[in-house]
Amino acid sequence: MMMSSVTGIGNWKYSVLYLSLIISVIYSIEILISHKLHINHTNIHLKRSPDLPLRFRDDGTFKILQVADMHYGMGSITRCRDVADAEYDYCSDLNTTRFLRRMIEAERPDLIAFTGDNIFGSSTTDAAESLLQAIGPAIEYGIPWAAILGNHDHESTLNRQELMTFLSLMDFSVSQINPQDQGALRLIDGFGNYRLRVHGAPGSVLSNSTVFDLFFLDSGDRETVQGRRTYGWIKESQLLWLQDTSKQGDNQSISGSPNPALTFFHIPIPEVRDLWYTPYIGQYQEAVACSTVQSRVLRTFVSMGNVKAAFIGHDHVNDFCGNLKGVWFCYGGGFGYHAYGRWNWHRRARVIEAKLGKGRDTWTGVERIKTWKRLDDENLSKIDEQVLWEASYTFLK
Ligand SMILES: *[C@@H]1O[C@H](CO)[C@@H](O)[C@H](O)[C@H]1NC(C)=O
Ligand SMILES: *[C@@H]1O[C@H](CO)[C@@H](O)[C@H](O)[C@H]1NC(C)=O
Ligand SMILES: *[C@@H]1O[C@H](CO)[C@@H](O)[C@H](O)[C@H]1NC(C)=O
Ligand SMILES: *[C@@H]1O[C@H](CO)[C@@H](O)[C@H](O)[C@H]1NC(C)=O
Repeated sequence: MMMSSVTGIGNWKYSVLYLSLIISVIYSIEILISHKLHINHTNIHLKRSPDLPLRFRDDGTFKILQVADMHYGMGSITRCRDVADAEYDYCSDLNTTRFLRRMIEAERPDLIAFTGDNIFGSSTTDAAESLLQAIGPAIEYGIPWAAILGNHDHESTLNRQELMTFLSLMDFSVSQINPQDQGALRLIDGFGNYRLRVHGAPGSVLSNSTVFDLFFLDSGDRETVQGRRTYGWIKESQLLWLQDTSKQGDNQSISGSPNPALTFFHIPIPEVRDLWYTPYIGQYQEAVACSTVQSRVLRTFVSMGNVKAAFIGHDHVNDFCGNLKGVWFCYGGGFGYHAYGRWNWHRRARVIEAKLGKGRDTWTGVERIKTWKRLDDENLSKIDEQVLWEASYTFLK
């Protein structure tokens, strides 16, 4: 009897001690980190967001860096492919990272577009870690970036939906999983279909208006069609969304026609093959690998009227731009060192620059879109510069 009551009092003492210890620990944590959790005293912000909306600069330009096919693996332990024998022992994914940093330093882009096969799923045991490393430099420099998926990103620990969710939550990302209709996710094929609007220059009459549209599309991975394996393609549901969205004609340009738009996706469309017979700019060194299914992509772009160019990847040693019915189709050219390439042919990246027109005393809508590439050589050589589109209206001048 005595014993148990003593033990009871002892337990009670310990309980009070433990309780006060726990309370003081919670209190200290609250004091230490609460200011980090309660930004604006309402929301918990874990993602560092870029300044939005995206907009043209004071000098009237907006520059996009396209990074195609990084094929990132696990960093320093993932070897390069198709480099000189002497380079092989000193070459890894870190060379891809170095190239991305060099490109950012040289071009200072306003947006980076990662057009799929960002990671090479079968070369990594942790897709999230691999993405963090691959995209790393964009986050380091605080540059807004948008990613879509290729046919290899999902071959590791995350499926396509999980990958797009993760990509949309990373720092400085403007990637989205899929479009929303009145707040609800629109049912659409694939993951990573979204629109980014770019506003006019600060202080100009169009500073609060969209003047340039960027559409990102999921071209899928692989499919079986009538018993045959083939690559994915952009489905009807995605094209219908694209058409609907472009018809929501808010912020028409000064000329009265819809804002110029660019599209980004990974796998080429079959019509890109026809460019072989046209005066393309750049190199056409391998067969266009695409789906056997002929979808309505080109017809949709042509009927929309405002799509000036499509930027694709997938075929690493093609880096050309060619024109199909008034729409340019441009390869980024292989960027990553763990991706297949061609011996003695430098890894490369594409840059796209849109420039606003100059009105009497203010910047107006987009007047010209140019593109060029840079090689990962000693001087980061700039090649194949060309104008993709120029507005035909001049009445404002
Ligand atoms: C990879 O990076 C290393 C170290 O910076 C460099 O010595 C090597 O030449 C690079 N290899 C290639 C193929 O760029
Ligand atoms: C844009 O919006 C800001 C903030 O609402 C406003 O101060 C500014 O006057 C607007 N500019 C134009 C050109 O409408
Ligand atoms: C541009 O669109 C926004 C809505 O998206 C609207 O509030 C604004 O008034 C429009 N500006 C012009 C110049 O049409
Ligand atoms: C890089 O530029 C320097 C100085 O302009 C030049 O001497 C050199 O030959 C260039 N290297 C290559 C590979 O073009």
